[in-house]
Amino acid sequence: MIGRLNHVAIAVPDLDAAVITYRDTLGATVSDAVDEPDHGVTVVFVELPNTKIELLYPLGGSSPIAGFLKKNPSGGMHHVCYEVDDIMTARDKLVEQGARILGDGEPKTGAHGKPVLFLHPKDMCGTLVELEQA
Ligand code: CO
Repeated sequence: MIGRLNHVAIAVPDLDAAVITYRDTLGATVSDAVDEPDHGVTVVFVELPNTKIELLYPLGGSSPIAGFLKKNPSGGMHHVCYEVDDIMTARDKLVEQGARILGDGEPKTGAHGKPVLFLHPKDMCGTLVELEQA
């Protein structure tokens, strides 16, 4: 069912410092910071030859990243995103197998303008999993 790894998202407590780490220390190509108010995050995209890393920083008062950083003050891996061909088919198959979809169970428009779902980490080996319709 799942296809390519679309991105790995890393929550960071200091976006400028994270850009310096990825751009200068690791030598990667990084984007400018992009505010995504609908998702409560500011994102920097790190382009790698085979996938992307998204550096997530909280934006606004009710950011989902703020709580994560409270528990992980130096930052950490927040989620992985796998591509699927058809998100509704994937959703129905997962629900059938007992996996829990976060929120109301309906796909939302993700950071790249495509439908996404998040799966409960307790059903996914302790990792928050995002599915994106490629
Ligand atoms: Co994501």
